[in-house]
Amino acid sequence: MDEQLLSGRSDDELSSHREKEPILSTAFVVAAWIVIAVLACLALLVVSVLAWGLFMLLTTRLPVFSVTVDVFSGLEDRVPRAFNLTLGIDNVGGEYDVCVGGEAVVLYGDVPLAVGRVEELCVPRKGAADLAVVAASGGVGVPKALAELMAGEKRADGAVHAEVRVISAKHRRLLSCTAALDKGPARPYPCKKSIMDDESDGVRRDGSG
Ligand SMILES: *[C@@H]1O[C@H](CO)[C@@H](O)[C@H](O)[C@H]1NC(C)=O
Repeated sequence: MDEQLLSGRSDDELSSHREKEPILSTAFVVAAWIVIAVLACLALLVVSVLAWGLFMLLTTRLPVFSVTVDVFSGLEDRVPRAFNLTLGIDNVGGEYDVCVGGEAVVLYGDVPLAVGRVEELCVPRKGAADLAVVAASGGVGVPKALAELMAGEKRADGAVHAEVRVISAKHRRLLSCTAALDKGPARPYPCKKSIMDDESDGVRRDGSG
């Protein structure tokens, strides 16, 4: 009995729906296709952007800088302090030109030991170059307190580590590289890069804090 009642009612509802059905369903189908098309386009866009990002991430590398201390003198011997350095610029995976130029400072315990000029050089994307830099000072040997600090580090770590700062003020690029000073074969040491906001970031002069 209940079933009959239910089916009777639903038949009525169905027949009343059927009259409007053609227009409604056409509009509905069109709207649904539009929504599906828009969603598909958005999905394609998102997938393309992600794929492009992944591709760039895998194929591009930021430029890599290194410093090699080829020869140095004047730290233990009574001759003028001098450091012959090689600045290595590896832009092989890069997408932009990379430029340096300005000055290089060799520091120990934040005290500048020698200063030199860094030639202007731009390394194109996908390129690499080595730049010779000579940092020197009129001074001979190192101040007593620094020499003691160096001797202490040498005893503790087996080597003395100096900081080489390459200040390219024009290009707002500051490199800070920590290199061992020893008599062993010269090898490249990696540099940390930073953006210079202001030239005073370059070197903290002895005593200025
Ligand atoms: C360091 O470089 C300068 C300039 O290129 C050169 O005259 C000098 O002989 C070099 N010093 C040593 C010890 O190789």
